[in-house]
Order: sequence, then structure tokens, then C-alpha cells
Amino acid sequence: MVGGVHTSAVTMTENYIGQSIELNLFWTRIIKEHFIFMQANLMPKDVSYIQQAEDFKRLFEDFLYRTIRMANGFISSEVLLSGELLTDKTLLAEQKTVGLTGITIGIPITLEESHLALGTLPVHVISPELTAGISALNEQIISSARSVADFMGKVYEDVIHCRLYSTMLPSIYDHQRGETLNYITLLQRLQNHPMPDPYSNIAETEKFWNNNMMVHAEAVRQLLDFSERAMIKKANDFALRFNQLVRKFTSDTKPTVSLKQITSESRHATVAIRDFKATSTDMLLACQLKGVMSALLADHLLREANYYLRIISRSSTGV
Ligand SMILES: [Fe+2]
Ligand SMILES: [Fe+2]
Repeated sequence: MVGGVHTSAVTMTENYIGQSIELNLFWTRIIKEHFIFMQANLMPKDVSYIQQAEDFKRLFEDFLYRTIRMANGFISSEVLLSGELLTDKTLLAEQKTVGLTGITIGIPITLEESHLALGTLPVHVISPELTAGISALNEQIISSARSVADFMGKVYEDVIHCRLYSTMLPSIYDHQRGETLNYITLLQRLQNHPMPDPYSNIAETEKFWNNNMMVHAEAVRQLLDFSERAMIKKANDFALRFNQLVRKFTSDTKPTVSLKQITSESRHATVAIRDFKATSTDMLLACQLKGVMSALLADHLLREANYYLRIISRSSTGV
């Protein structure tokens, strides 16, 4: 709620601005991190891929910064407290990644974003200029995200056809492309509808994110050192648990449970994997977990789980 005004016209605009800002704060950080992970896993000789990854990282970092500058006063406490924008580990994970890889990360942006929660940035009021600025930014992001999806698709194809070597698992590029496309879909919904609810299709949301949680578990299982048997087993158990949930939405399987029940099971499973990801991030930060996974990647997966948990909790309470 902004400024204590309750007319329906203001509510509609406020809703559009708030939804846009919340969506962009979450996703622009996620997209720019996909390029940090790409940069960390390409070979030094592949300069044009590395440069494109650097350009996309900076572009989405700029989108994130511009969104932060407009965001204060428009973010719901639900989103601020969800841990989807930043966790208490994000800054440390970024610092550690910079130290270990030498990759440039916009840490001042993270510090500025952390002030959103404290309310020390100037609060904006709704104006036609602000609404037009948000709309223009959304359009720019949609266009750039399409280029990101194309590039991710090209990298995936080049890796699987052995034209490019990467130490990142090929399916992760495909997964990141899928996340980019989902972001485009949600942002387009906001642009096209006057009173949007980008998550109105609960089954679609759960199908997409349960699959993502499964892929995260499969990725973590593959990125851990083979001596980490207990953590590998946990990751594998999560992969199987989410695979069961994913299968409940496939058309060739007769629905034996209601959507409400799947939502409840998905929520419980996501709380559990969220805790596993938080523990993994802490262990990586403390150098207590061996593997080829950075603390920033673990924190990234943690934020994606927090985002899904917020959406799914929202649907299970009928909001
Ligand atoms: Fe991601
Ligand atoms: Fe993901």
C-alpha cells in the first residue's frame, strides 16, 4: 500500500508498479547470476562467449540497479521477508566468488538493495512518469531477455555438439533458458493486462517450479565431490521426491490427488529443499563441503526456492 490512497485507478496502477518491481528485482538478479556461472565455466580461449556473458551480466545488473532506484515503498513485506531478493548469505557468497574467480560482481548494488528492507532509500510516489518509466523498463527487459534465451540456447547446442567446452553441465544451460522464458511470460502478462496476476494458473506454476526443484537437486547431486556421500544421498532423495510431484501433472498419469493436495505436498517438499540449500550455502561459505559448486550458486538456488515458496504459499491461502 502506498500513500494511503484507495481509489481503484490508483490500486490498479499501484498493483502494476508493485508487481513489475517485485518481479524484476527477483529475476534480473537471477539472470545476471546465470552469466556469472557461465563465465566461471568457460575456457579462456572462448573470448567471444565470455564477452557476451560479460555484456549480458552488466546489462541485467543495470536493469537491477534501475529497478532498485524505483523500488522503495512498492515492495510488499511478504516479498521483502521471503528471502527471494537477498538472503543473509548473498553478500558473503558474492565476496567469496569475486575472491576465488576474479569475476566482477556489482557488490555495491547488493549493498544498496539491502537498504530497501531498511527503508533508507527515498520513497517514490505514483506518477504518470513513474508508470511510463516502469513500462519502458519492462519492454527493454523483455527484449533483452529474448536475446538471453537465444544465447543460452546457442551455448547449450554448441556444448552438446562439442563445438564449445564448458565445465558447467549442459542441462543447466537449458534450465537457465527455461527460467528466462518463464520470466518473459510473466512480464508480458503484466504488460498486457490491466489488473494482472502473473501467477493465476496454479497448476502451471507448480509444474514449472516442481520441475525446477527436481533439476536443482539433480544438479547439486552431480556437482558435489563423490566423497560427500551423505549430501549426495540427500540431493538424490530430493530429486526423486520432486520427480514424483512432477509426474502428478503429466497427462498420461491419471490424477489420483487433487490440485490442493499436490500444492500442499509441493509446499512441504519445497520447505525441505529450501533448508537443504540454506545448509549447503552455509557449508560452502565455511569451506565444509567439497565439490565444484560455488556458495553463490547455492544461494541462487536458495533464493529460487524462497520465491517458489512465496508463490505457492500465496496459492494455498487462496490469495
Ligand atoms: Fe537460476
Ligand atoms: Fe534454477
